[in-house]
Amino acid sequence: MTSPPLHKVIFDTDPGVDDAMALYFALAHPAIDVLGIGTTFGNVTVEQAAANALYLTALAGRSIPVTQGIAAPLRLPMRELPAHIHGADGLGNLAMRRPVKGQLDPRSSARFIVDLARAQPGEITLVAVGPLGNLSLALTLEPSLPQLLRQVILMGGTLEEPGNVSPLAEANIWCDPHAADRVFSAAWKLTMVGLDVTHRVILPLKLFERLAARQNHPATDALLHAVAFYSRFYSQQHAQLAEIQGCVGHDILAFLYLVHPELFSVRAGRIHVCTEGPGLGQTTMDKEGLPDCAQREPGSSPSSTQACTRVQAEACIAMIEDTLMSPWLDR
Ligand code: BDR
Ligand code: CA
Repeated sequence: MTSPPLHKVIFDTDPGVDDAMALYFALAHPAIDVLGIGTTFGNVTVEQAAANALYLTALAGRSIPVTQGIAAPLRLPMRELPAHIHGADGLGNLAMRRPVKGQLDPRSSARFIVDLARAQPGEITLVAVGPLGNLSLALTLEPSLPQLLRQVILMGGTLEEPGNVSPLAEANIWCDPHAADRVFSAAWKLTMVGLDVTHRVILPLKLFERLAARQNHPATDALLHAVAFYSRFYSQQHAQLAEIQGCVGHDILAFLYLVHPELFSVRAGRIHVCTEGPGLGQTTMDKEGLPDCAQREPGSSPSSTQACTRVQAEACIAMIEDTLMSPWLDR
């Protein structure tokens, strides 16, 4: 008899090539149960993100509720979409899409998060790997959300590592810094998986070639196509990545942290987001040992936030390959 998955998850995402990797890792992992998917603008428009989430899940033979979420930042104008990194369609410009069944759940992603959290209090982990507007809106709908969710794990931000959209900022936080600031200020157990660790884990294109050859399935074929496009971008940026046609798996690391936190070192403390000026989107942590002196909403309790600072990269890569190579796809 197999034991039930340990981690019930709502996945909030903007697919996106590394989002697609993360989704397939979660679907493949026996300890993860993806209860539903929220989508946001970010790598693509929110309409495209929702269509991609539906397509990727259907292609993998899974029927998981997908909701469409926030279409723009809370206060700032929309940024240009990074089509040169993820393709205009977010999946490396797939030549054609197979016809698949499935339609969107009519609820907004924020409403969906609240409904599921209320139905299963204390049981659900929210894994967020895009700009954080859905989570911010969910907090407005349900101020007790931090008590209803088990924890939040997000890919975004950076403490020591240079930013990837400005010298100081990481893309997900920079896209909607006001939403991110709200999320970091809430009183939940939150782990930031940022560039300090994601930049250490380089995934070679060959891994996805081996995967497609082993699975021989439309889902892993689509993933290989998307990763090949994404790796071309990274190879043009960094000579060292060009040698192995490698890419950065960013979002998949959030799930690695969920199932193997022992592979990461963390630092605990209040995280702040810069919402204006040249540091827009920068994430900083209070110095160790300082009393928690941050401004917070009246009546709210202290947050319990931490950021990943180091990762055992080789072990993560081996885990990613083992998990995706396992027989997880419907035939
Ligand atoms: C993050 O930005 C997006 O482009 C990726 O999907 C990832 O979530 C990395 O900075
Ligand atoms: Ca993402």
